[in-house]
Amino acid sequence: MKYYIQTYGCQMNYSDSERLTTVLEKLGYEKCDHYNKADLIILNTCSVKQNADNRIYGLGEPFAELKKKNSNLKIGITGCAIRKGTGIRGECKEQIFRRMPTVDFTFKIKDLPQLPNILRELHQVEGADEVDDLLSYFHIDPTVANIAQVFIPIMSGCNNFCSYCIVPYARGREESRDMAEILEEVEKMAKRGAKEVNLVGQNVNTYKPGDRSPDSVDTPFTQLLRRIDAVDGIDRIRFYTVHPKDMTDDVISLYGQLPSMVPHLHLPVQSGSNSVLGRMNRLYTVEKFKELVKKMRERMPNMSISTDIIVGFCGETEEEFMESYNLIKDEKIDLVYVSKYSERPGTLAQKEQKDDISPDVKKDRFERITEVMKGVSHEYNQQFLDKTVQVLVEKVDKGYASGKIPEYKMCRFKADDHNLIGQYVNVKVDKAMEWCLEGAIA
Ligand code: SAH
Ligand code: SF4
Ligand code: F3S
Repeated sequence: MKYYIQTYGCQMNYSDSERLTTVLEKLGYEKCDHYNKADLIILNTCSVKQNADNRIYGLGEPFAELKKKNSNLKIGITGCAIRKGTGIRGECKEQIFRRMPTVDFTFKIKDLPQLPNILRELHQVEGADEVDDLLSYFHIDPTVANIAQVFIPIMSGCNNFCSYCIVPYARGREESRDMAEILEEVEKMAKRGAKEVNLVGQNVNTYKPGDRSPDSVDTPFTQLLRRIDAVDGIDRIRFYTVHPKDMTDDVISLYGQLPSMVPHLHLPVQSGSNSVLGRMNRLYTVEKFKELVKKMRERMPNMSISTDIIVGFCGETEEEFMESYNLIKDEKIDLVYVSKYSERPGTLAQKEQKDDISPDVKKDRFERITEVMKGVSHEYNQQFLDKTVQVLVEKVDKGYASGKIPEYKMCRFKADDHNLIGQYVNVKVDKAMEWCLEGAIA
């Protein structure tokens, strides 16, 4: 019996899919490389924008076709489209079954330990006894895609209720994982060959585990960073996402102090205008964001900062938009994930504000942010010309190996040895473009 998992959305979902893979393989399913060969398709969905939801519904028809060819095929949906929390729960699940009659089952990702029971009723699965030891979601050992770079969830959910955002409804309230359990997972991964640890959670700075040691002077998050830094074999730590309102000096002080703190941070600002930030319920000012960037660059002058920007949020004027544009340019933000505002049912913005910026204006603003970012990124990348950078190889394809340098820039070089995946390679850069660097093995 073959399975295929399609993952959408952020690192949280990618990390969830690694645990999902473990459960399916323990049940005896085998991975296949295309959904049209599968007996079980699971969609791990993202719901952050309307078009993400629409994309899932668009699959209804192709699935009906596949089921005609393979009567054994079962289709399941998990992830953020399966809502949890006020108002939207239930309603949304029913909507999925109504709009996609080809779907056989849905489950919340936190209920992953119950998945074997669902599948036992649908398929004659082997290996079923082995999965009875699944205690809880976090105890499931993830099947990692690339052992050198591992994604470790440290918390789930969100308490912030930014006015535009569906995540608190989709993932529920914040819950932190015990520190001992996280460290155990990091150590286990390091022994298997992990070099880079990516800590994931919606708001990692408010990490509050049940087992924080009472005599610590650090916040739990800095304590966790120090302990992971001390694990043998781990040389790079990245974390997503940091909310600017919660970024504290103790975390900033670790830059330049802990060898594994890379000179890159993803710090989503969403808007460069204080009035828009107010309407978004972000609870910080643009000045606070600039102050954070300044402090980090005082510690690491080449610090790369990436961010998220929403364009065309309710009532965004041209002047307010230009404040975002200028923030990217003036603060030299070298990577921006730009989103056109998408109204989400049940959120505060949908209830209390008006989605009044036209699609054309959103598109135009999207393109202008992309343009300004290209300029900043091109300029930032010039510092690497003729320098030797350390690449952690992720992929070898069509005669090129590629991977990221500590500053989160992609760098590629000519190579076709698949054994390079997961290895560090020193590369002398001879081309620095907007989105990537190119060079040769030094
Ligand atoms: N926890 C993170 C964001 C998670 S959602 C934070 O606080 O920054 C990922 C990104 O999707 C957001 O940063 C935002 O830029 C975008 N996004 C979220 N809701 C959106 C919406 N309704 N419309 C457009 N973009 C949205
Ligand atoms: Fe959404 Fe805001 Fe929570 Fe981020 S902090 S997940 S944007 S509500
Ligand atoms: Fe999407 Fe859920 Fe992540 S809505 S962005 S997959 S937390």
